[in-house]
Amino acid sequence: MNSKRSLKTADGSLTFFNKEAGETYHSVTGALEEAFGKFIAPTGVERLASRAFVVFDICFGLGYNTTAALHTFLEQATETGFMELYAFEIDKWIIGQAAKINVPEFIEESYSAIRGLAGHGSVYSDNFSLNLIVGDVRKTLPGLRLRADLVFLDPFSPKHAPDLWQQKFITEIRNHLLPGGVLTTFSCARSVRDALRANGFEVSDGPRIGRRGPSTVAKVFK
Ligand SMILES: C[S@@+](CC[C@H](N)C(=O)[O-])C[C@H]1O[C@@H](n2cnc3c(N)ncnc32)[C@H](O)[C@@H]1O
Repeated sequence: MNSKRSLKTADGSLTFFNKEAGETYHSVTGALEEAFGKFIAPTGVERLASRAFVVFDICFGLGYNTTAALHTFLEQATETGFMELYAFEIDKWIIGQAAKINVPEFIEESYSAIRGLAGHGSVYSDNFSLNLIVGDVRKTLPGLRLRADLVFLDPFSPKHAPDLWQQKFITEIRNHLLPGGVLTTFSCARSVRDALRANGFEVSDGPRIGRRGPSTVAKVFK
């Protein structure tokens, strides 16, 4: 039996409740609002829009963070801008949903690329490439010989999915970041911030959207 049921969040975008994780995939106050506000805005993706840069979307889900990044990049992109994005996701069921859900009109154009990505595993255009890596990111990321400018870290909460928030995995991410790299995540848990700091990240508060606490923006300088 499918243990995931859909619900509409306050900004009109869809999410699912995942019974095993005991939580929804996104904030019910607005799934797309969360993607734009917590994951994309604090990265300053616009400043990269006139050069080639690499993004890792860790925990792709319905691809909202990828679509928000693509939408923001395309609004600003110049001829020399090229976004190369790698998305990581373990669950083929949620990828299948991304291939067919409806989204609010304003995001329709970039989400059509996400449907293509979910259906075919990659999408290429003149100014971006999107690549979906299916499997456990703890195993797939170490094998990737690429370093990123931006990382979106969006697993289920530390309480329900501790492995992706622990020191060992944060070190793996750190080893895949370029100098000046930025990581954004919804969690402000002390253990998560400690693991980031222990890996040389400078940590600051991100926006408060849909919950009392802030999100986290973490930067590395070398
Ligand atoms: C909070 S949701 C992510 C929502 C997503 N960022 C979006 O924009 O729709 C967490 C996702 O992490 C995925 N996940 C959990 N463990 C994983 C792992 N070890 N490797 C890759 N993905 C994983 C889940 O299947 C789920 O889709």
